Amino acid sequence: MTNIFAVILAAGQGTRMKSKLYKVLHPVCGKPMVEHVVENIQTLDVSRIVTVVGHGAEKVKDQLGEKSEYVIQQEQLGTAHAVIQAESILSSLEGTTLVVCGDTPLIQPETMKALYEHHNNQKAKATILTAVAGNPTGYGRVLRDENGQVSQIVEQKDATPEQQLVTEINTGTYCFDNKALFEALKLVNNENAQGEYYLPDVIEILQKQGEIVSAYTCANFDETLGVNDRVALAQAEELMRARINEKHMRNGVTIINPMSTHISADAQIGRDTVIKPGTIIEGHTVIGEDCIIGPNSNIVNSRVGDRTTVSNSVVTDSSIGEDTAVGPFAHLRPESQLGNHVKIGNFVEVKKSTLGDDTKVSHLSYIGDAEVGSNVNVGCGSITVNYDGKNKFKTIIEDDVFVGCNSNLVAPVKLGAGSFIAAGSTITKEVPADALGIARSRQENKLDYAKKLK
Ligand code: UD1
Ligand code: CA
Repeated sequence: MTNIFAVILAAGQGTRMKSKLYKVLHPVCGKPMVEHVVENIQTLDVSRIVTVVGHGAEKVKDQLGEKSEYVIQQEQLGTAHAVIQAESILSSLEGTTLVVCGDTPLIQPETMKALYEHHNNQKAKATILTAVAGNPTGYGRVLRDENGQVSQIVEQKDATPEQQLVTEINTGTYCFDNKALFEALKLVNNENAQGEYYLPDVIEILQKQGEIVSAYTCANFDETLGVNDRVALAQAEELMRARINEKHMRNGVTIINPMSTHISADAQIGRDTVIKPGTIIEGHTVIGEDCIIGPNSNIVNSRVGDRTTVSNSVVTDSSIGEDTAVGPFAHLRPESQLGNHVKIGNFVEVKKSTLGDDTKVSHLSYIGDAEVGSNVNVGCGSITVNYDGKNKFKTIIEDDVFVGCNSNLVAPVKLGAGSFIAAGSTITKEVPADALGIARSRQENKLDYAKKLK
């Protein structure tokens, strides 16, 4: 147990997002902003994390679960008022409290660590993380006295035109002596342009009390981007995408065109895998080594084994073995499990089915609700007929079956091991092992009849 605590501010509605979804739940690279913030904090030596929730409280709690404790801010009266809600949990504790906004998803743990260390070295009661913005509009400005010491933060709406020229901004991340924080919060008033209780006012209050207040400047403004609207959301997405892609490239993944490659924050990719342009890898996807993924593939919450290729295909909630080829133009829908050395070719859809090792479904097939063994060949255009309009039924295809082209396998049905289905069959009854199943009308040739038709 350390005596470092964190408060995450996440109660605002986020009016400027113009959204039904609460601001801090908007995803950046597939993960809600506030979750990025909480997970970053978790990597530090913090003993308690308290998230202040208000708008969408239940949804935020559902998202973060056990990663945090929660306090409710019933009315959003400002960031100082938000921190006060954590009083019941934190105010009696000796220690240091980090405060971070739930809408600054890019701040790195290393930066928070550096802020904390600076705060300790300065023996400060409050240290504010600042950055220099190319365009500071919308942010609180950091005012410093003639000695360069921070004296005050002034919000955009309260700033004089002269103050608005200041480019050093408050990033919304702070480090406080915990007791000094809760004492100073009592003195914050709401006499300002927005009629809100501003957390940054604590800086001025402590400074006027003669306490040491300090600032630590983050060298990289991009890291401190605050997401208040969808324009900033897109900027955050772009910055985080680049960061994630760089991490994978440094770990040995080739990304042919990082600009057109989107990889979720939680995805893992093995070495020497090549990601081709136009690929989107989402959720908790795990991709092995030496794979070729893309171009234009979308893989969601799935596992892909080593040396597998996925080209121009969509894979959702599925798992694919090693040395397997998927696509081009294949669709693996949820709960599909492919073994090793499998081939799923063009215009093949697989849903809620398992396919054993060395099985091939190479062209124009639908395999749904099926258990397919190993070394099975499903011919072009063959499909499982799994749905009667009300219920779904299962197809079982045992090992070493050969399904001729354009067969309909009307479920529930079973094809025994080693059986052979003649092309064009509509199979409605079980085919015993090693049998030939043929279910089509016989061909008749009427000699010379074609001439009469012409
Ligand atoms: C805030 C800072 C500003 C800083 C900027 C950095 C204040 C008054 N201003 O401005 O100096 O430059 O962040 O991004 O703090 N929240 C609550 N309860 C409330 C109000 C807000 O929990 O009553 C939460 C919001 O959900 C959000 C965070 O606090 O996650 C910041 O609030 P927001 O309204 O975005 O503040 P900014 O105007 O961006
Ligand atoms: Ca903000």
